[in-house]
Amino acid sequence: MARSPQVRGFYHPPTSTFSYVAWDPESRQAVIVDPVLDYEGAAARTDTASAAALMAIVAAEALQVAWILETHAHADHLSAAHVLHRWTGAPVGIGRGIASVQAAFSEIYGLGEDFPVDGRQFERLFGEGDRLMVGNIPLEILATPGHTSDSITYLFGDAAFVGDTLFAPDYGTARCDFPGGDAAQLFRSVQKLYRLSPETRLFLCHDYPPADRDPRCEWSVAEQRQENVHITANTTEEAFVAMRQARDETLGMPALILPAVQVNIRAGRLPDPEDNGTRYLRIPLDTL
Ligand SMILES: [Fe+2]
Repeated sequence: MARSPQVRGFYHPPTSTFSYVAWDPESRQAVIVDPVLDYEGAAARTDTASAAALMAIVAAEALQVAWILETHAHADHLSAAHVLHRWTGAPVGIGRGIASVQAAFSEIYGLGEDFPVDGRQFERLFGEGDRLMVGNIPLEILATPGHTSDSITYLFGDAAFVGDTLFAPDYGTARCDFPGGDAAQLFRSVQKLYRLSPETRLFLCHDYPPADRDPRCEWSVAEQRQENVHITANTTEEAFVAMRQARDETLGMPALILPAVQVNIRAGRLPDPEDNGTRYLRIPLDTL
């Protein structure tokens, strides 16, 4: 029987994102997963209120933050990983595939030689099968590419933080059309999750609920296998890939992709200020 961490999910309505604080109840060692840096696009104003809400739980539960974990380089929100790294000293981890995401977007943003594309901006790069202990509970890495090439799942005891590998059963799955995305890979990654024991708790990175239900962060493997509208245990790879590719052709770019990705491939660091003390983002024209 896998050990069970305590998990608190936080919903960020502007970007429909879930962030998590999860911890071993005995040792109080904790991880923070997919923290959001608030960003108001019209004024290009950042804020750390959502990151502070995560830290309020850390304080209230007397936790020690051992890791700050990203399931992938997000395209829909800016990451607060660096803010939390500064506040807690905890290392920031992401999947090894971040190097290829950095290479693709370095080109798009024109970042040039000054921007290394080997993942060194993060303290730790994880690959399939890597394992660490958070207090007394093992945390194992499952490579789950498809939505992006760097997507990984953190299997922490009986809780799996799946990023955008699955959405709620009534919404399905994430797009696979960003640079490095691949619908056939996503199909295989979902099969990997579906082979976990049926009661495994899957924690999602997003929810886009219909009007008649509230956002919900947690579903079991059994529920997803039975009910996911894009991919049940019986869906074939051919049918899934055809559906996913047809659907992706209809989607516009996420509102924050250009501000978000340039920050997130730097592990959540904002660009250095220029001589006037102001930080600037780069917005490439006619590239996406
Ligand atoms: Fe994503």
